[in-house]
Amino acid sequence: MLELNFHPFPKIITPRLVLRRLLKKDADALFEIRNNVEAMRYVDRDPMKTLAEAKKLINTIQNNEFENNAILWVIALKEQPEKMIGTIGFFNIVKPNYRAEIGYILHPDCWNKGIMHEAIQPVLHYGFEGMKLHSIEAHINPANAASEHVLLKNGFVKEGYFKECFYYNGRFLDTVVYSLLKK
Ligand SMILES: CC(C)(COP(=O)(O)OP(=O)(O)OC[C@H]1O[C@@H](n2cnc3c(N)ncnc32)[C@H](O)[C@@H]1OP(=O)(O)O)[C@@H](O)C(=O)NCCC(=O)NCCS
Repeated sequence: MLELNFHPFPKIITPRLVLRRLLKKDADALFEIRNNVEAMRYVDRDPMKTLAEAKKLINTIQNNEFENNAILWVIALKEQPEKMIGTIGFFNIVKPNYRAEIGYILHPDCWNKGIMHEAIQPVLHYGFEGMKLHSIEAHINPANAASEHVLLKNGFVKEGYFKECFYYNGRFLDTVVYSLLKK
């Protein structure tokens, strides 16, 4: 069985980015991202309407991290490490199978600069080497070309296409599942 320990928090530094722990004071920035209709388009969840929702999500994430059940990094630029521009993390971790789902989001102001490509590489490395995962999956809306691009560029393989498996906003949506195995 996979045993996880996110303490101390595994902060990651890349050429342009700092991937750090989520703090209570990130609530405004988290709300700004999760309230953004463009950013939420293919996440297939309602954009947040209140700051209280962001605070509640931070609580949930911090509890999950404390209990070693999930981990999320704040993505920030090195020159402004306090200012969250996005998040990336592992959740739905199935410990008996050494498998986890990866999820990420970036503020639209920062899209198409290679930022998620830069963030995902050390996070995948941590997933396989630090957490000892055997496989990582990603679930995406088939129309989410940018997310698909990031996954393919990082070696993920399309493994399944699930028709109308996700109910959101009065419609049944398709989901594509990508996965990456430990090399
Ligand atoms: C998916 C997301 C994280 C990508 O972040 P990003 O930092 O812009 O990604 P990158 O710049 O590293 O790479 C994006 C790639 O997709 C390509 N791309 C972007 N939009 C595209 C589109 N509509 N069609 C095809 N390719 C597209 C870019 O050209 C780039 O390719 P390149 O690396 O060959 O130049 C960002 O778009 C986002 O936050 N989307 C909203 C949240 C979301 O959908 N999360 C995923 C849920 S599973």
